[in-house]
Amino acid sequence: MTVEKVVQIDKLSFSYPDGTQALKDVSLEIAQGEKVALIGANGAGKSTLLLHLNGIFCRNGRVQILGMKLEKRNLKFIRQKVGLVFQNPDDQLFCPTVFDDVAFGARNLNLLEEQVTQRVTRALEAVGLAGFEHHSAFHLSFGEKKRVSIATVLAMDSEILVLDEPTSNLDPRGKKEIVQLLRKIDGTQIIVTHDLGLAKNLCDRVVVLSKGKKVADGNTEEIFHNQAFLESHGLA
Ligand SMILES: Nc1ncnc2c1ncn2[C@@H]1O[C@H](COP(=O)(O)OP(=O)(O)OP(=O)(O)O)[C@@H](O)[C@H]1O
Ligand SMILES: [Mg+2]
Repeated sequence: MTVEKVVQIDKLSFSYPDGTQALKDVSLEIAQGEKVALIGANGAGKSTLLLHLNGIFCRNGRVQILGMKLEKRNLKFIRQKVGLVFQNPDDQLFCPTVFDDVAFGARNLNLLEEQVTQRVTRALEAVGLAGFEHHSAFHLSFGEKKRVSIATVLAMDSEILVLDEPTSNLDPRGKKEIVQLLRKIDGTQIIVTHDLGLAKNLCDRVVVLSKGKKVADGNTEEIFHNQAFLESHGLA
């Protein structure tokens, strides 16, 4: 039986309008249920790659999600399947209240409002923010905003979770809780992190980007064991 590939990227290159080439010929396949850590030094292209997974950047048909080409007519479907947590929560949160932010994606799934409320309650509990429904995200601390960002995708029950530094700025307990939470979720996860301990803890597979190129893809233990390799890519 062949394992279903939920993400297929074929030689993806991407340059920003100012000419900065952020990705060079990156190919990547991820099977259903895999938990993959995406690591690399600052500026390696990690966030740029993630932004291609739900069509924020939509280029030259080189990305497929669940067998669907990432192009305009498929965006609605793909955005229901891929829950993306941005690196910066200010890019994610734009509603007047925490409730509305967390409900936003779930409302797009055409659920009954009662089901949406249940999902929001459950997601906020999971990130340790029960009772924050009526706060304005604008006034929360950075770490609290990060938790709300994670709650927005939890409430969507997305098949593929894509998280850009989910534990940055979280306090130690918050970090532990997010790790425990992610471990309990069965679906496919792609996690960008600078925390190698977290990567090791959650992911059997690691992909390393360096200056826009994929320079390693394999077993986490093996890659992390190679100190010289990590050092040469600014990771140790
Ligand atoms: N909007 C933009 N315009 C021009 N260049 C950009 C833009 N966003 C990112 N870049 C550049 O693209 C490259 C990749 O950036 P990206 O944000 O993907 O890196 P990253 O691996 O996520 O880094 P970090 O660990 O700091 O989050 C960098 O050289 C960066 O300066
Ligand atoms: Mg980044």
